[in-house]
Amino acid sequence: MDFFQYKNGALHAEGIAVSQLVERFGTPLYIYSQATLVRHLTQIQEAFAEANPLICYSVKSNGNLALARVMARHGSGFDVTSGGEMHRAVLAPGHKIVFAGVGKSKAELARALQVGVFLFNVESEEELHFLGDVAKGLDITAPVALRVNPDLPPKTHAKTDTSVKGVKFGLDIETVLDVARGVLGHSHLRVIGLHMHLGSPILSSEPYRMGAAKGEQLVGELRKMGHPITVLNMGGGFGIHYRKQEALAASAFAAEILPVVKRLGCKLVLEPGRFIVGNAGILVSKVLYRKESGGKKFVIQDAAMNDLIRPTLYDSFHRIWPVNLPKGASAPPEDYEGEIAGTEKVDVVGPVCESGDFLAKQRALPVLEQGDLLAVFSAGAYGMSMASNYNSRPRAAEVLVDGETALLARRRETLQDLVQAELDAMAGW
Ligand code: LLP
Repeated sequence: MDFFQYKNGALHAEGIAVSQLVERFGTPLYIYSQATLVRHLTQIQEAFAEANPLICYSVKSNGNLALARVMARHGSGFDVTSGGEMHRAVLAPGHKIVFAGVGKSKAELARALQVGVFLFNVESEEELHFLGDVAKGLDITAPVALRVNPDLPPKTHAKTDTSVKGVKFGLDIETVLDVARGVLGHSHLRVIGLHMHLGSPILSSEPYRMGAAKGEQLVGELRKMGHPITVLNMGGGFGIHYRKQEALAASAFAAEILPVVKRLGCKLVLEPGRFIVGNAGILVSKVLYRKESGGKKFVIQDAAMNDLIRPTLYDSFHRIWPVNLPKGASAPPEDYEGEIAGTEKVDVVGPVCESGDFLAKQRALPVLEQGDLLAVFSAGAYGMSMASNYNSRPRAAEVLVDGETALLARRRETLQDLVQAELDAMAGW
């Protein structure tokens, strides 16, 4: 459940009308609900409470500092995948960091050692030895979890499935033990964990059952070999409601993971991003024009693929509905893909110069007019964090709502922002 609800035909973010926020902050606009963020974090904390887990919010899903600070205040650590995300986690600040990614640079590794990250999720043999060298150079011991690719059947979109054979992530399950053997007794590497991230989003608990089973066996073998494994990191990937109520509760994943954690007596780490922030954010846009072309109807609004790339990149479905219900229009339907009275089928597109610039295709929507506002739901995760300046479009503003209070969490970029780095560079010409 989230805290974006219609009251008297007007969409509200917690206690504030979305149209009021648009008056203050303009469009396109990302709006986040703090109560929803905290609610979803709490759901995971409670579902896994028995294991007293370390929840590391996945910064890549939405790295806005205001959100990261809410996470930190509520006891979350951070999962980071670059020096940039680590910087955000440090500024959040004060909680444990786990660091994944197949291409960590020397500078990033050194910084992570100095920051004192809780765990390096190491993804290749070369990285492991390189980390060992960097750690030795700084005389800091690196806590390591070996990231394994557990080689499971496909479970989500091919572009975001990270645990099938042949992807770039983790160590092949057949090679993990050899790699681990190679660093036994290393002076500056302490292999204390096993990591896996299965993919994202996942709408079934079955992959976690299979992954945890493989993890349990590996941890046993690593311990036998002499590595003091105390941490099992099961990554993120828990799915959310994009279409209707298709996602599982956190307790369904806990039911598969907790028994293994208990048997192993390990500390459990989880790296959820989407589950926490996905439904805590909407993207609001304004209808610019309508047109018909090639026998199709188009609604051209001011949010584009540079603001939310998921529909065109992954064929993702985001619910879309007017912020203020037009006369005669019904409240948002239970099933956005079913027959909806009083609607017409339209392509919802943006101003970017690509045919791939769309938020929805052949979508049933009430008849819209110029100036109407649209809410694109479930846009909190991988929306703003994947936004770009393509077509030299300034990135949207972000607002964090807490009850009746709305705070600007990132100002809208200006035209000057778009060219400043070039002007800085050219100043020395
Ligand atoms: N841990 C690791 C190592 C990851 O690679 C990811 C996501 C997560 C945790 C968090 O997964 P989550 O709980 O948010 O599902 N841009 C795509 C999703 C890419 C996910 C990348 N890794 C999308 O918009 O669907």
